[in-house]
Amino acid sequence: MSIRFLQETKSFRLDTPKATYLFHIHEGNYLIHDYYGATVGEDDLRYLCARGKRNGTYPNSPDVNNREFSPALAPMEYSTNGSGDFRISALQIRDGGGHNSTDLRYVSHKIYKGKPAIPHQPATYATAEEADTLEVFCKDPATGIEITLFYTVFRKADVITRHTMVANNTACAVDLERIASTCLDFVDADYRLLHLDGSWSRECTVEREALTRCIKTVSSKRGYAGHQHNPFVALVRSETTEDQGEAYGISLIYSGNFASETQVDAFYTTRMLMGINPEGFGWRLDVGETFYTPEAVMVYSNEGLGEMSRTYHKLYRHNLCRGPWKTKKRPILINNWEATRFTFDGNKIYSIAEEASKLGIEMMVMDDGWFGTRDDDKHGLGDWYVNEKKLNGPLKDLVDRIHGLGMKFGIWFEPEMVNPLSDLYEAHPDWCLKVDGRTMSTSRNQYVLDMSREDVRDYLLDCMAKIMDSCQIDYIKWDFNRPLTEVGSALLPAERQKEVFHRFVLGLYDLLERLLDRYPNLLLEGCASGGGRYDPAMLYYSPQYWASDETDAMERLPIQFGSSMCYPASSMGAHVSRCPSHHMKRTTPFETRGNVALWGTFGYELDITKLTDEEKELVKVQCEEYHKYFNVIHNGDLYRLIPPYTREEAAWMFVSPDKKEALVTVVVMMTKLHRNRYIKLRGLDPEKNYKDEETGKIYNGKTLMNAGLIFPEYREDFTSFKIHLTEI
Ligand code: DGJ
Repeated sequence: MSIRFLQETKSFRLDTPKATYLFHIHEGNYLIHDYYGATVGEDDLRYLCARGKRNGTYPNSPDVNNREFSPALAPMEYSTNGSGDFRISALQIRDGGGHNSTDLRYVSHKIYKGKPAIPHQPATYATAEEADTLEVFCKDPATGIEITLFYTVFRKADVITRHTMVANNTACAVDLERIASTCLDFVDADYRLLHLDGSWSRECTVEREALTRCIKTVSSKRGYAGHQHNPFVALVRSETTEDQGEAYGISLIYSGNFASETQVDAFYTTRMLMGINPEGFGWRLDVGETFYTPEAVMVYSNEGLGEMSRTYHKLYRHNLCRGPWKTKKRPILINNWEATRFTFDGNKIYSIAEEASKLGIEMMVMDDGWFGTRDDDKHGLGDWYVNEKKLNGPLKDLVDRIHGLGMKFGIWFEPEMVNPLSDLYEAHPDWCLKVDGRTMSTSRNQYVLDMSREDVRDYLLDCMAKIMDSCQIDYIKWDFNRPLTEVGSALLPAERQKEVFHRFVLGLYDLLERLLDRYPNLLLEGCASGGGRYDPAMLYYSPQYWASDETDAMERLPIQFGSSMCYPASSMGAHVSRCPSHHMKRTTPFETRGNVALWGTFGYELDITKLTDEEKELVKVQCEEYHKYFNVIHNGDLYRLIPPYTREEAAWMFVSPDKKEALVTVVVMMTKLHRNRYIKLRGLDPEKNYKDEETGKIYNGKTLMNAGLIFPEYREDFTSFKIHLTEI
């Protein structure tokens, strides 16, 4: 078993292949955290919970017969508010008497094989052979509120997942004010906080900063993560690199407001929380009700960021994504958005598909503009009926013709939104999120539907089903293009308005679940003006995600590097687009655009009918390459060799699981004269010999990893090349 209860020390010991997690039941039934990090011996580690010399400013607990013990200093397994611990609280509950003093003490526990689902929420899943689970039942002694801490340990990966459940079996309703998914106390503060920030078209920029004695928060109040922060953070050591050093990743399986808070206290210890953002959150828990937090996924690596990322990639690919598409090769798609925006008709879509089908592209995706009066972004959103005039006939005719080309067909929806200028808004103005007396903000000329309402979700499912049942739709691009403002629901009483943000997310999950139940073979691609909602919860439903609206190959490099901190190549929507590029107006070689897009779920985002013959030949080559390299890229291990941040060059490689094949890609961002360029490869088998497909040269794995390779001479900015190695 990877989870043990050690009777003598009353400790819980959780072991992954290379890490140990320890906490114990202290006097007074406090749960005290001892250790999380590289595997340790069977020693009694409770000595680690001692803190520096305390003084009178730290309160004692009447339940612990030791004046040195204070909840304000002890490393708490799940911290609470208002009962002696002044650091950030994982749990804060306002009781029936109006107090928010919260406490949590151990009652009992159980350990079993496998992993439970979280009701009505996405989470990782595992068989009885893959994982073990610990449930620790606790109680707040004064209020009687029951709290269960869940831990799942993956036996073959350095992964521990956590979530929390609160049950109100008391005599009166209570209000949840803070409820984190995980809480981690560290004995020191010598860490850097790594997080992914950005903006539209510049998602997932890697930031790394020192911790200081204060609270650092990475969060969102937009109703989804947004482009500004991703629900992933890591604590790393100053010396941690791609290949060595400690990294503690925490990723939250949640599509709403999240917060990761990291506090260094006066004793230079660190506490980190991850969960639903307490700001903007509240939940009335009636008698007999339960509340489950989203799941936090913790990955420990002692082999740098690269190993941490590879652990996430495998876990999310095999134990989070689900359905027939989770590991299946995805069709190479062409999307008409950058080619036409709203100005197209059925004949144009067909002509793009026809040309694409000749070159090896396998799916036509018709983007925004095919429904209602949607000829611009001011009209029609919410009116999910086909504009047959624009499509030159029924949708089925167009779809059948495209299937006749041997292609699949995909279509765009933005279900959660409505334009004020739409039939839907006219009929149901109360279906929007709004606050009485306050003017609703528009963003991209649209309002947000109240996804907490069942009637709204029923309407949306019904509309989508009508389209889906009218013809064979193989794929949906599920878009979401604005943040939530004036967040109120017409159906909820005043004391529950604070629940709307979270209820919105639960409503989204419900709609996605019902859609996939009904159309189990449907391939979903998530999108929120690019990567605004690129989070693990969305990957549970949509195994691929449009990583960014930025399709310029150079701008894409940091976005893809940053996204790969947590998200696998198989999830990263990446397309070749036209030049000059849509937003940057930069021109890069067609080959480079292909090499960059090959990293993800490959496709095109251009008017293929306007390409030159030479470019069309390159499309054919790129499509063949997608199939040729599918195994190594999508099933393989990623090594980020040279990050793009110096803007000189970038390089990455994938190594197949059996290490028989590797693909290295190098992109020259800016040439420099008189500089030798050199690269050491990673992840190869030191005992194997590899042949460079292009030059025919044979190298030993050790040679490639220790001595490396000199780059070929190149002179032009934005050029790129690949090195394909196979075992001989
Ligand atoms: C935003 C998406 O990111 C784009 O790819 C495109 O689908 C537009 N929305 C359509 O409105």
